Amino acid sequence: MYPTGAQWSEMCGITGYTGSKDAVGIVIEALKRLEYRGYDSAGVAVVGKSLSVFKDQGQIAQLERILPETHGGTAIGHTRWATHGRPSKENAHPFLDCKGQVALAHNGIIENFYSLREQLRQEGHTFASETDSEVAVHLVEKFYKGNLEDAVREAIKHIQGTYAFVIVHSGEPGKIVAARNFSPMVIGLGSGENLLASDISAILKHTDKVIYLRDREMAVVTPNAVRITDFEGNEIRHEPQTIMWSMEDAERGGFEHFMIKEIFEQPEAIHQTLLGRFDESDIDRLLSQNLTSIKIVACGTSYHAALAGKYILEELGRVPVTAELASEYRYSRGGMDRPLVILISQSGETADTLAAAREAKKRGCPTLAVTNYVGSSLTREADFTFYTRAGLEIGVAATKTFLTQLVAMYLIGMKLGLQRNALTPTQADGLLNELRALPRVVQSVLDRAEAVRKLAAKYAAADNVFYIGRYVNYPIALEGALKLKEISYVHAEGYPGGELKHGPLAVISEKTPIVAIAVRDHTYEKMLSNIGEVNARGGPVIGIGMDDDSDLGKYVDDIILVPTVRPLLSPVPIVVALQLLAYHVAKARGCAIDKPRNLAKTVTVE
Ligand code: G6P
Repeated sequence: MYPTGAQWSEMCGITGYTGSKDAVGIVIEALKRLEYRGYDSAGVAVVGKSLSVFKDQGQIAQLERILPETHGGTAIGHTRWATHGRPSKENAHPFLDCKGQVALAHNGIIENFYSLREQLRQEGHTFASETDSEVAVHLVEKFYKGNLEDAVREAIKHIQGTYAFVIVHSGEPGKIVAARNFSPMVIGLGSGENLLASDISAILKHTDKVIYLRDREMAVVTPNAVRITDFEGNEIRHEPQTIMWSMEDAERGGFEHFMIKEIFEQPEAIHQTLLGRFDESDIDRLLSQNLTSIKIVACGTSYHAALAGKYILEELGRVPVTAELASEYRYSRGGMDRPLVILISQSGETADTLAAAREAKKRGCPTLAVTNYVGSSLTREADFTFYTRAGLEIGVAATKTFLTQLVAMYLIGMKLGLQRNALTPTQADGLLNELRALPRVVQSVLDRAEAVRKLAAKYAAADNVFYIGRYVNYPIALEGALKLKEISYVHAEGYPGGELKHGPLAVISEKTPIVAIAVRDHTYEKMLSNIGEVNARGGPVIGIGMDDDSDLGKYVDDIILVPTVRPLLSPVPIVVALQLLAYHVAKARGCAIDKPRNLAKTVTVE
């Protein structure tokens, strides 16, 4: 029931066309269909008699105004979602080499770009942007000896990271060379024309015959031929597939809603957040200051990441941490201390969080922003920024941005632990390995989505649901309840397990299901007692635990198990199960999942 193959996508959209039609027009149209992947800047390179690049900050419509009319030819295009370098004309793709002969558009992250750029600079290359991607075009220039394919093959040997490239050369008109490692790329097969794109929605209008380029494969695309090789140059044959999707289906990767698509993108989002993150010197410098305490401030779902961050940073970094809602912090009086204030906001534009950042500065506190939007207002208010790199999130209910905020907390906690000698390097390495395994752990929860759907169908008629958790899973109970409330309009409340008897038990009955998160940490026995309290009042219990728990099933009516990880990391797989539960309840109740009533994705009013 869930599409496969297309779910691992990421920020930025790229496309290319070669044939006898209006190449620029086709590329622009394709970019518009890719705009949902990011839209802070866009550009096109066209090869006719010469090579020209047109690019600008802003949406595709802006770019269209500066484009000349062309007929036929070869063009590549890019719509950007900034990850390195703020959104600007200079940082927009495609990039040109020093001689203006090679143009390149990139989707992904080049991890070793600092060292590559330094080396290329020493060799005399000049850089026009702040991006990681620009190193790739200079590498291709460096290795170009009359054959673009050979130059690209040589260049990618030096590149570490994730990428889908489309590249053209003024001396080889009619040819696009593409290479893929981890970032998506599909080739559309036409007659007398061929196309490339990050996903099929961009090219479906022109053809339904496609070939998915796989990892570590390259393609040389001309109007009448597509030749695919591996990185070593061995030729590969892929049977073209016929796509049956409508355009709308294609934009959502075949998923019914953006929310479920984004839930399924989480393994990739975590991977991107972790990429190249272990030697970020700015954050190291910030954390090496003599910190006496930390305060994490945020709104909505981001506040739940903040609250989870409190437990994570305290456990890993052995430092006192408080979490506070931005709308409360900004009006509080403030104490005598000067904590490091971490502000979490996926959009970086939430009015209360911005005001909280200003308040923190006024109080003389150092500030660190954790956000998903490069160049957002919050990044300008804060001293330092950690980008979560989840890719653009369209569903109003935050999913992949929340998960990557949790990952940010683990990374910051790990760095803090090392700085404060609360973690040994060996312990930090162990944790890092477990973090790197999280994409697989999450994938395994997604593989069990059908079981969660069945459970959702069973409980979809309930009007009130309580979620309980303890310790680091208390914020996850809050988040599970918020997800359900937001998209299904079911009254849902999250509680710390210990608080059940201070109120909620009064309203528990056979009509009030309880979702109880129980992991085998120091709170496990207490959670079992809480479950017993609910059982005694006839409330049905859905237990959420980990695979190694053979006992939990005895105490609950229904159970969702997720892969076993260390308890501190358990919020990651558990919240994915809760997202799926909320999604399927909302779907069973026929709700407008991507655009819940009365809610906005970004709240820029106070
Ligand atoms: C809105 C959104 C939530 C989000 C909150 C905070 O309420 O609907 O999904 O968690 O704002 O947004 P931020 O961009 O600051 O994380």
